Amino acid sequence: MEKLHAVIKGVGAYVPDYVLTNDELSRMVDTTDEWIMSRIGIKERRLLREEGKATSDLGAEAVKNLFDKTGTKPEEVDLLICATVTPDMRFPATSCIICDKLGIKNAFAFDLTSGCSGFVYALSTAARYVESGRYKKVVLVGAEVMSSIIDYTDRATCPIFGDGAGAVLLEPTAEAYGVLDEEMGTDGSGRTHLHMKAGGSLMPPTHETVDQRLHYVYQEGQAVFKWAVVKMADVAEAVMKRNGLDPDKTWLVPHQANLRIIDAVARRMELSPERVMINIHKYGNTTAATIPLLLWEWEKKLQKGDDLVICAFGSGFSWGAIWLKWAY
Ligand code: UT7
Repeated sequence: MEKLHAVIKGVGAYVPDYVLTNDELSRMVDTTDEWIMSRIGIKERRLLREEGKATSDLGAEAVKNLFDKTGTKPEEVDLLICATVTPDMRFPATSCIICDKLGIKNAFAFDLTSGCSGFVYALSTAARYVESGRYKKVVLVGAEVMSSIIDYTDRATCPIFGDGAGAVLLEPTAEAYGVLDEEMGTDGSGRTHLHMKAGGSLMPPTHETVDQRLHYVYQEGQAVFKWAVVKMADVAEAVMKRNGLDPDKTWLVPHQANLRIIDAVARRMELSPERVMINIHKYGNTTAATIPLLLWEWEKKLQKGDDLVICAFGSGFSWGAIWLKWAY
C-alpha cells in the first residue's frame, strides 16, 4: 500500500471581540506597557466576556470558519480532536460539545490536554489517524478561554495569556506533502514549575482552595523560560537539520509564549526574521490556539511546497517540533 501523509487543507480561526490592552492591565495590577512589551512582547490580548459562552463556542466558531473556507460539510468529518486546558467542563470532552453545536454526527471526538504543546501533540496524533487510511477528514481544534483560569490580581501571570481558537482540516495524500517528520519530548519533573494546584483528584475543590486562589495558573516564569528556550530550540533544530531544510526558506511556526523565547529559537536555527511567524503582540499566549492562529494569519503568504517547522513547549513539561510541507 502507498504511504499516506496528512496534509492541511485549510485553516479557520476565531477570537473574541474584547481587547484587553496593557494600559487597562496597568490599572488592574502593578505593571506597565513598557515592562510587558520588553519582557514578553505583548501589546494586547482578546478575552471572552460573554455570559454563558465557553471554549466550545470559540472552537465551534473556528471550525465554522474552516468549513466555510474549505466547503466541508459537518457530516463529512470522521474525527475531531480538541486540544485545550480550559474545557467547558471536567467532562464531557469539549470536542463532543463542538460536534454537537455544529451538527457533526458521523465523527468520533476527544480532547487532548498538553498545555501549550497541545496543538503540536494533537497534530502528531491526528496525522497518525490520517496516515492509517481509515480517516479521510480530520478536524483539529486548539481552543482556550485562558481568562477562566488566570488570576487578574497576579501581575506575574495575568499579562501573558489570552483567549482564542484555531482549527485545521487534515486529509490524506500519497504525495510528499503535509506532516513529514517530528520530534517530541516530555519530562514530568517539570510539573512543579507550571500547574494548577487545586481542582484535580490531588486537591479537589473546597471553600479553602477557592479562598487561597488555588484554581489559577501557577507559573515559576524563569524556570519555565529556561526550559522552553532549550527544548524548543533542540527539537526545532533537530527536525530542520535531519531533513536538510534550508534556513533561508523554512518558516518557523513557534508557540507564542514570549517574544524572547521565539527570538532565541530563531537565532539557534539561523533563520531570517521574516521567516518567523509572530502575532504574540495581538493575542498573547492562547496556549493550544497559538499555532493555528499563526497559520490562519499567514495562510495567504504560504505557497505550495513551503517547509514549515512548527514547535511548542508547555506544561508537563512537554515539547515538540513537526516538519510540515504546505500543500496549497
Ligand atoms: O506557554 C507555556 C510556557 N510558558 C512560558 O514559556 C513562559 C516562560 N516565562 C516567561 O516568559 C517569563 O519568565 C515571564 C514573562 C513569565 C517573566 O519574565 P522574567 O523576565 O522572567 O521576569 P521575572 O519573573 O524574573 O521578574 C523580574 C522582575 C521581578 O521583580 P524583582 O524581583 O526583580 O524586583 C518581578 O517581580 O519583574 C517583576 N515583575 C513585573 N514587573 C512589572 C513580574 N511581573 C511583572 C509585571 N510588571 N507584570
